[in-house]
Amino acid sequence: QTSKHREPCHSLSLSGSGLSRGERTENYSPIFFPQSDLLKTSTMKFVRFIMKNATLANVPKHIEHFAKFSPSPLSMKQFLDFGSTNACEATSFVFLRQELPVRLSNIMKEINLLPDRLLTTPSVQMVQSWYVQSLMEILAFLDKTPDSHSVLDEFVDTLVNIRNRHNEVVPTMAQGVIEYKSVFGQDPVTNQNIQYFLDRFYMSRISIRMLINQHTLVFDGATNPLHPNTIGSIDPHCDVTEVVRDAYQSAKLVCDQYYLSSPDLMLQEMNVNNRKQPISIVYVPSHLYHMLFELFKNAMRATIENHDASNRLPPIQVMVAIGGEDLSIKVSDRGGGVPFRKIENLFSYMYSTAPTPERAVSCSLQAGFGYGLPISRLYAQYFQGDLQLYSMEGYGTDAVIHMKALSTDSVERLPVYNKTALRNYKVSQEADDWCVPSREPLDLTIYRVAK
Ligand SMILES: Nc1ncnc2c1ncn2[C@@H]1O[C@H](COP(=O)(O)OP(=O)(O)O)[C@@H](O)[C@H]1O
Ligand SMILES: [Mg+2]
Repeated sequence: QTSKHREPCHSLSLSGSGLSRGERTENYSPIFFPQSDLLKTSTMKFVRFIMKNATLANVPKHIEHFAKFSPSPLSMKQFLDFGSTNACEATSFVFLRQELPVRLSNIMKEINLLPDRLLTTPSVQMVQSWYVQSLMEILAFLDKTPDSHSVLDEFVDTLVNIRNRHNEVVPTMAQGVIEYKSVFGQDPVTNQNIQYFLDRFYMSRISIRMLINQHTLVFDGATNPLHPNTIGSIDPHCDVTEVVRDAYQSAKLVCDQYYLSSPDLMLQEMNVNNRKQPISIVYVPSHLYHMLFELFKNAMRATIENHDASNRLPPIQVMVAIGGEDLSIKVSDRGGGVPFRKIENLFSYMYSTAPTPERAVSCSLQAGFGYGLPISRLYAQYFQGDLQLYSMEGYGTDAVIHMKALSTDSVERLPVYNKTALRNYKVSQEADDWCVPSREPLDLTIYRVAK
């Protein structure tokens, strides 16, 4: 609760200790209990009810219509303009009642392309019904006038409702993946399919929440007392090292609680543009905080589990550097690293979903169900950045967040449903175009030259 960069909208006081933040309920919610048959039946009843209403309201037709539009990516500058002094709530309303259905419909088309055996799990059905319900609620505003205060107020209430309805989307989808795995196991083709879908699905979700947060925060008439200069969730002068320190402190708190000790932080910064100025960018501090908090927790855990408690722990070293184009943050630990072969799997939703009860019960503040890295990478990519791991097994890991230094380069990165996307769901099991090394020693006798 102490963190300054906690975003009011993401952290609804749904669960426990409140040490982590951002989209915390999604990463740490102990949702992993086997679904009882009763629960399954009631879930499916609810889903059928929503879907029946949707058909009556012609929702499938609306989805077809709105999915034909491409989402419109906004730049940081456009986000700031929407929130500046001459911001107009009616304009934002008219934009959102078109753009939100477009983004929702684009991704709803893709949900339908999931493998049937995943699509039909109660969890995925539930998520799908949330999307349908929310789409219907926004469509209800299509024929309302932007000139009425009560319409605008009602719209804000609707958006808040929608945001809450979708709070548990990530753990619920994860539950769907677990249900699928428990019956069908895992294979590379399904893994690739699920990876492709979930990266796009979660990116779409991040963007929709960003739009909702901006509108509800900017037009609720109150300024954020902790951050009077923020515009919605954007800080035009986001002090990067301050967020680094803040995220480190929160991770340290969790780590101390769990392991009774924690490595120190060594922080360096390099501002080639102006050596005396602290490094600052236009950014969403809560997104940056989310990524750093995850990286620190991982680095601390690796450090502690690879060193005797009796010895001094090697510190976590952070380098923040800004150039003409990039702002990069490197988090280096000496926690023993990860074999190169496994790096890609650390970002996989299918291979890393781990519902181990012991982790879930301890509310997994230290580690979640393995979504820390993939979701953090999406936050970095959302504004055209990236997150990469460089590990040396036997030594340690460098995790690097790359961001755009210039706000003109920070533009939303959004999935669009089109033929290319469609084709990507049709990947099938084909033969590999690289040889499979044989485990048997080669029988050279057949090559022997006859004498
Ligand atoms: N700095 C690191 N050093 C060693 N292993 C790491 C590091 N960061 C991540 N990992 C490995 O990657 C896995 C996935 O990390 P993450 O996505 O954060 O999920 P979680 O922490 O919930 O397991 C971790 O369980 C850990 O095995
Ligand atoms: Mg983690």
